[in-house]
Amino acid sequence: MKRGCGTALFAGLLLSLLTGCSEDAPVRHPSHHAPPDVTQLPAKALPGGDTTFVNRNPENRRGIDDFSQPSANLPASQRGTFAVGNSFFTNAWVSAPASTTARDGLGPLYSAAACQDCHVRDGRGHPPPHADAPITAGIVTFASASGEAHPVYGGQLQTRALPGAAPEARVRVQWQTFTESLPDGTEIAVRRPRWQADQWGYGEPESDTRVSFRIAPPMIGLGLLEAIDTAAIEAEAARQQADPAPPNGRVHRIARSDTEASTVGRFGWKATQPTVHAQSMKAFAHDLGITSELFATDECTPAQRVCQDFPNGGNPELSIDIGEAVVFYARHLAPPARRYVDRPDVVTGETLFTRIGCAACHTPSWTTAKDAEPSLAGQTIWPYTDLLLHDMGEGLADGRREGAAGPRDWRTPPLWGLGHTTPIGGANAGYLHDGRARTLAEAILWHGGEAQAARDAWASLSATERRKVIRFLAAL
Ligand code: HEC
Ligand code: HEC
Repeated sequence: MKRGCGTALFAGLLLSLLTGCSEDAPVRHPSHHAPPDVTQLPAKALPGGDTTFVNRNPENRRGIDDFSQPSANLPASQRGTFAVGNSFFTNAWVSAPASTTARDGLGPLYSAAACQDCHVRDGRGHPPPHADAPITAGIVTFASASGEAHPVYGGQLQTRALPGAAPEARVRVQWQTFTESLPDGTEIAVRRPRWQADQWGYGEPESDTRVSFRIAPPMIGLGLLEAIDTAAIEAEAARQQADPAPPNGRVHRIARSDTEASTVGRFGWKATQPTVHAQSMKAFAHDLGITSELFATDECTPAQRVCQDFPNGGNPELSIDIGEAVVFYARHLAPPARRYVDRPDVVTGETLFTRIGCAACHTPSWTTAKDAEPSLAGQTIWPYTDLLLHDMGEGLADGRREGAAGPRDWRTPPLWGLGHTTPIGGANAGYLHDGRARTLAEAILWHGGEAQAARDAWASLSATERRKVIRFLAAL
């Protein structure tokens, strides 16, 4: 056996993990038993820069906990805070009053009892597989005919409630399957969700309201995305808009209540939240029913007296220390190393990805700001997102308007870690905002609007080339 493919144990494992080492692979790592020298690997093999988690399991498998690791460069002194945050992210909250005052205050209306119930193993959530399965790993969005939040039910339907309170509604999905025919005659089965709500807890709403669903996105690399300079994101939007041809991504500007200035939204499927902190506090209030300094009330409208009638778990319910630990945790989950970066089909797949226009929105690389938190600062990262809003067409529209994002607008999601979707999220985990796409091919076929041309270009490739694009995505 040649060196680099097994003789140098540590180096060999790392190399095969990252490059799909074959017998004739070049020797890239010189020493036996030395710690792996990550500078010897192509930069894009480490999508989170120095924060990247490298799983060294001997079978070259993706691990079920690959999204749950702290940034590799996190100082030992900060790992305790990460562990505290992990505990409050993972374990269930309970109703107040309770003996465990640190984690009480759940509800009275809520969508899940723990962050992890939706962000499954720090990865994505999933839609229910069939009409009789309950909603578990995402949120139900609700819109008036105008697209705005509903006056009684708000912008999110809470499908759970504490004993004594009524859930807002029962929500179910019907899947409709149809076939997409590609130019070469290949047929691909695609499914579309139809969301329905009944058993309304607070009165029947108007018939022109719209129910939709969003899975929880993966939690990796969020601190790095937050550390990208606002000016760099604005420059990318200006660059896209200078050319009338799509894509023409837009920054989601968010009005701030505390200052005159607006800020740039980058988190959530419609980029509605500017920071990991804001998104996390919103999650506590809207998904768990836990109030904080930032969100003084649960997601209850004045028409829902039930929220005032229940005892609360402190005012606010979330202590500042626990909130900060959870946010710290959410900022420091490491993106895992890429695999097979040098394999010829993966390399060709990425070239095609760029050539047919995917990389125009799924921007491969960014460098984080120098003045960010030390472990996140100045890193070259490979998230494959421009963090901008795009009109993705009617097929993906959800009827919901949030700030400057209309029903057809979605933020380009990062693609790092995409190949971990099934190992971590399980068989029901799918792609796109509502998890409707069971395969990567299905996800591409739903691209419309500004992404229509790239979608059509992929559909027009030969079967072999289409497969190489998918191989590249699955190796991320
Ligand atoms: C009921 C399901 C659910 C629960 C529980 C939940 N989330 Fe989420 N999370 C989501 C959804 C859905 C989104 C996308 C939100 C959107 O599109 O507006 C999201 C987005 C996020 C994001 C932004 C990720 C990104 O890439 O944009 C962060 C950070 C986050 N959640 C943190 C938390 C924290 C912290 C908790 C626990 C306090 C939590 N979430 C609980 C469903 C959930
Ligand atoms: C105009 C911008 C744009 C272009 C061009 C584009 N995408 Fe996307 N992509 C998006 C947006 C926005 C979403 C999220 C849509 C949603 O969730 O409803 C997305 C979602 C995805 C997803 C699902 C990600 C996940 O986490 O669920 C994959 C995979 C993907 N794109 C691959 C591609 C490929 C391959 C191409 C080229 C054929 C491409 N995209 C071209 C904007 C774009």
